[in-house]
Amino acid sequence: MGEYILETSHLTKEFKGFTAVSDVKLSVRKGAIHALIGPNGAGKTTCFNLLTKFLEPTRGKILFEGVDITSEKPAQVARRGMVRSFQISSTFPYMTVLENVRVGLQPTLGTSYNFWRSSRTLDQLNGRCMELLEHVGLAEFAHLKAMELPYGRKRALEIATTLAVDPKLLLLDEPTQGMGHEDVEMITELIKKVAANRTVLMVEHNMGVVGRIADTITVLQFGQVIAEGPYSEVSRNPQVLEAYMGSSDEALAGIGE
Ligand SMILES: Nc1ncnc2c1ncn2[C@@H]1O[C@H](COP(=O)(O)OP(=O)(O)OP(=O)(O)O)[C@@H](O)[C@H]1O
Ligand SMILES: [Mg+2]
Repeated sequence: MGEYILETSHLTKEFKGFTAVSDVKLSVRKGAIHALIGPNGAGKTTCFNLLTKFLEPTRGKILFEGVDITSEKPAQVARRGMVRSFQISSTFPYMTVLENVRVGLQPTLGTSYNFWRSSRTLDQLNGRCMELLEHVGLAEFAHLKAMELPYGRKRALEIATTLAVDPKLLLLDEPTQGMGHEDVEMITELIKKVAANRTVLMVEHNMGVVGRIADTITVLQFGQVIAEGPYSEVSRNPQVLEAYMGSSDEALAGIGE
């Protein structure tokens, strides 16, 4: 097995003649926290959608653990262990925190499980659920409804539900978006923690977070890779600084400081 868990070559997505992702070569090292950054509209989310197969590439190839997954379906890719953490809206607001994680764990019961089986079937998952909640700092909130959680904790719950399937590669699109300082800290630490035994690929606007936890950073502009490397290099790259200059994105103002 090679050193990269995920590789793309010539990855391209055109929307009616507009190229949102252009000839992108990504190499995500196994075990790393890899950040994808770039100004608004640079193609980051489109890139994610291509990787998780929510969009068909116009051209190019995607390899996961050395296997060509370019023509696979989203479910197949998820089964291989590449899982995207969806937005907070993907949790069930009226279910408890514990029940939300239990839904994530249900596939581990295998085909013998049916939704209408006795609640005891589900209860056998509670131990594992609590372990997961412990891991993400949500144990004390287990019996609250998801909707009752503070914003940052909702994001932690969303990450916990993805961890239920023990992904090899976890994709996070702007995990600290819309958060205050304390929540940003909490989620940053959480990402570091969950990355201990897996690979994380994240889109992140907050340069403080990227600088602190990302091992490798790929910078996109107009759909193209303009720089790649550790924060210390990328943040001094003249092309990157220029890409961010005049950016209306305040969160990015920290780059180069
Ligand atoms: N379905 C679509 N049809 C047409 N154009 C699209 C579509 N999806 C994205 N685009 C365009 O592709 C470009 C890249 O969009 P994308 O959402 O990938 O950027 P981004 O880097 O995630 O931006 P942001 O930082 O704002 O989240 C944008 O110009 C966007 O308008
Ligand atoms: Mg985006």
